[in-house]
Amino acid sequence: MRTEICHLEKHEGEKASLAGWVANKRTGKGLVFLELRDGSGFCQCVVDENQVKPEVFELAKGAALSASLKLEGNVVKDDRQIGGFELQVLSLEIIQNVEDYPISNKEHGVDFLLEKRHLWLRSKKQWAVMRIRSRTKFAIHQFFQERGFTQTDSPIFTGAACEGTTTLFESDFYGQEAFLSQSGQLYAEATAMALGKVYTFGPTFRAEKSKTRRHLSEFWMIEPEMIFYDLDMNMDLIEEFIRYVVTDIFTTHKAELEILGRDTKLFENIGTSFPRITYDEAVEILHGKRDVNGVSAIKTLENDLEEVKASIVEKNKDIEERETAIAAGGMKKGKVNFNRNKIDTLKNEVKDLEEKERNIPQWLESAKNFKHGADLGGSDETIITRLFDTPVMVYKWPKDIKAFYMKRDEEDDNYVKGVDCLAPEGFGEIVGGAQREDSLELLEQRIKEHDLPMEAFEWYLDLRRFGTVPHAGFGLGFERMVMWLTNVPHIRETIPFPRYYGRLFP
Ligand code: 4AD
Ligand code: MG
Repeated sequence: MRTEICHLEKHEGEKASLAGWVANKRTGKGLVFLELRDGSGFCQCVVDENQVKPEVFELAKGAALSASLKLEGNVVKDDRQIGGFELQVLSLEIIQNVEDYPISNKEHGVDFLLEKRHLWLRSKKQWAVMRIRSRTKFAIHQFFQERGFTQTDSPIFTGAACEGTTTLFESDFYGQEAFLSQSGQLYAEATAMALGKVYTFGPTFRAEKSKTRRHLSEFWMIEPEMIFYDLDMNMDLIEEFIRYVVTDIFTTHKAELEILGRDTKLFENIGTSFPRITYDEAVEILHGKRDVNGVSAIKTLENDLEEVKASIVEKNKDIEERETAIAAGGMKKGKVNFNRNKIDTLKNEVKDLEEKERNIPQWLESAKNFKHGADLGGSDETIITRLFDTPVMVYKWPKDIKAFYMKRDEEDDNYVKGVDCLAPEGFGEIVGGAQREDSLELLEQRIKEHDLPMEAFEWYLDLRRFGTVPHAGFGLGFERMVMWLTNVPHIRETIPFPRYYGRLFP
C-alpha cells in the first residue's frame, strides 16, 4: 500500500512504498539521491548501488526531473531532511520517464514560468504557497464560524456597481447589461439584515489595466457585515481577525514558511495592538510633519536608501570574488556549480536592490508632494507602514475618494467612516471597510453625487426604508493576505491560475 510522505513517521524503521515524482536528483559515487514529491511532502530517497539490483540502479540513474515513479525501501529518521525522514531504496519502478522537463532547477524568468503555470505549480515554493493559501481559507472560515457568523453567497452577475464604474467587467445577461461583481458587499448588507452577522467569500472582478504586483483582475474577497457595529467595533474585528489568521498560519505552517524563506519575526509580534491613525495624520507622516515614537518616516526611508546602496556594493564584490575564483580554475565541479548558483541568486538580489535604489527617491518625492484629498498610493502606504511592525489602520477618509455607501462623519461632512488596514513590509492595503450610511436620504444624496443610476439601487435602498439599523463591514483581499503571509514578490503567485491584464492562459 502506498504511504503518503507526510505519514512516513508512522513507518520509522519499517518498509514503506512511496509514489510520486522526481523533484530533484543528485548522483554521487555509487549513489543516486532522488528527491521525491507526492503532493503531501518531499522525501530524499537514496539508491545505493550495493543495496539494489543493477537494473534498479540504472533506472534510478536515468530518472529525469518530473518522472513519475514508485519506490520501496526502509524508512530512516534523518533530521536534516525537510520531512525528517529518508527512504533507503530497495526497489523502484518508473511509471513514466520524462524528457526535457521545461522547468529545471536553475533560475527562470517569471514570464516563462507564468506561461508554464500548470507545471510551475509543482515546484517547492509554489507548493508551499498553495498549502498556505488552502489553510488560510480554512482559518478564515473557522474564525467567522466560531463567532456565530453565517456564510452567505452573493451573485457574480450583478446589475449595479459597488466600487465605482471605472473597473467594471461588462457582460451580457440575456440581452440585459450586466457586470461581474466587484464586491459582494451590497448583498451581504441585505443578508445581514436577515441573519445579523454574515460573511461572503467569493470571487470578485476588477477591470484594472494595471500590472502592479498587487492587482489581479479576478481575486477572492471575504466580506463580513455586522448589524449594530460602528467604525470602532469594525476596526476591533479587523484586528482580531487578522491576528487570528496570521497566528494560525504561523503555528500550523512553519515548514512551508521556512521553504519560502519567510522572516516570521513580525508574525511573532502580531499580539500587540494595531495602531489606528486618521487619514489626516497619515498625510502629516508623508509630509514629514509627524513622527511616530520619535521617528520620522521620511528619515527612515532615507536611511533605507543608504543601506540599499551599501548592500549593492557588498553583493557585487561577493559576485566578483566568486567569478574570479571560478575563472582561476582548479575548483571541483560541485563547488563550481555551487558558486554559479550562488552568483545567480546574488545577481537577482542585486537586481531587486537596484530597483529599490531607483524607487526610494521617487517615493520620497511623491510623499513630499502628496496633496491632501488624494488617495494613498502603494508607495505612500509603504512609507506609512515602514514605521510600524504590525498592520496599521487608516480611518476617517475624505468622502470624495471613497465609495458612496460609507457613512459620513458626524463632525465633518467632508469625511466618511471608512477604514483601510495596511500590512507592513511594503504590502499595503489588505482590507477596506466602513460603517455604512444608514439614512435613506443621505444615501440617495450620495448615489446622485456619485452619478450612479438610482434605479439599479432601488432594492438596496429598501434596506434603509424597511427597518434601517447601524451596521458596518469590511472586505479582505484574500490573495493580498496570502501574499503578505508568504512574502512572494507578486500577487499572481498566490492563486493557482492568475487572471490579470494580459493573462488568460493557462
Ligand atoms: O477596498 P475595496 O475596493 O473594498 C470593497 O470592495 C468593499 N466593498 C469591501 C467591503 O467593505 N465589504 O476592496 C477590498 C479589498 C482591498 O483592500 C484589497 O485587499 C482587495 O480587496 N482588492 C484587490 N485584490 C487584488 N486585486 C485587486 N485588483 C484588488 N482590488 C481590491
Ligand atoms: Mg480599498
